[in-house]
Amino acid sequence: ETKPRIPVLWMHGLECTCCSESFIRSGHPLAKDVILSMISLDYDDTLMAAAGHQAEAIVKETIEKYDGNFILAVEGNPPLNQEGMSCIIGGRPFLEQLKEAADHCKAIISWGSCASWGCVQAARPNPTQATPIHKVPGLPAKPIIKVPGCPPIAEVMTAVIAYILTFERFPELDLQGRPKMFYSQRIHDKCYRRPHFDAGQFVEHFDDEGARKGYCLYKVGCKGPTTYNACSTVRWNGGLSFPIQAGHPCIGCSEDGFWDKGSFYNRL
Ligand code: SF4
Ligand code: SF4
Ligand code: F3S
Repeated sequence: ETKPRIPVLWMHGLECTCCSESFIRSGHPLAKDVILSMISLDYDDTLMAAAGHQAEAIVKETIEKYDGNFILAVEGNPPLNQEGMSCIIGGRPFLEQLKEAADHCKAIISWGSCASWGCVQAARPNPTQATPIHKVPGLPAKPIIKVPGCPPIAEVMTAVIAYILTFERFPELDLQGRPKMFYSQRIHDKCYRRPHFDAGQFVEHFDDEGARKGYCLYKVGCKGPTTYNACSTVRWNGGLSFPIQAGHPCIGCSEDGFWDKGSFYNRL
C-alpha cells in the first residue's frame, strides 16, 4: 500500500482488444483496484480519458519522466511490411512507437497470443508480416514476459501484475518466457473430462449421445493435450467455466501458431 505505483504504458498494435476486454473483467484482484491502486496506467488508448494528440503527448512525457522505470505492456503486434504502414497510431507506424517505448522501459509484458506469438494476423500468408514482440528486429534486449491466450484469463493477467509489483521481479518463467505458475500444465492434465479420455469414451459428433453425457472432446479436435494454459484450473468468469466445460474443444488458443496448426476442429 505504501509502494509508489509503477507507471505502465499499455500499447495496442494489430489486435482485437479482447485482451483488454478480458483484463477489465478480473475479479481477484478487481481490475479497478489494479488500475487505481497498484499501477499507474499512464497510457492505454482503450481505457484512458485522453484522446488524440493529448494521449500521444502522455507517452512522450512518461518515457522522459520514468526513463528505465516503467513497464511496457503490449497488446497486439507490429506489422513489419511496408515500414509498418498497416498499423498507424497518431499518424505514425506503431512499430516506431513500440521501439521508442521499448528503448526506455524496464521490462515488457506481451499480452495475449498476438503479442506473444503473432496470432491470427500472423497466420499464413501473413501479408503484413505481423511479428510477435520478441521477434521484432531492432528492439533492445529487455526482459519480456509472455502471457499468451486469445485472450489470456483475466485473473492470470492481474495476478502477473500483482506478482511483479509485490516481489519486484518477474515470476519464474518457462523456456518460452511464460510464467510457470500458470503455463506449466496442459489443459488435459487437469481437465475434468480426463476420466472419459482414459476410459476411451469420446464425443464422435457434437450432437451425439457422448456429447450429451459429457465425454472427452479429443475426437472432435480438442487441443487440450498439447495446450499449456490454466483454463482447467483457474477457469474463466471468476472460476465459473471454460470452453471444454461449455461443450467445446480447446482450440489451443495460447499456443504458438494455433491458427495454422490443423484448424479448430481437426487433429494436429
Ligand atoms: Fe484479441 Fe486474441 Fe490478440 Fe488478445 S490475443 S488481442 S484476444 S486476437
Ligand atoms: Fe483432454 Fe480435451 Fe478430453 Fe479434456 S476434453 S480430457 S482436455 S482431450
Ligand atoms: Fe484457449 Fe483452450 Fe483455454 S481454447 S481459452 S486454451 S481451453
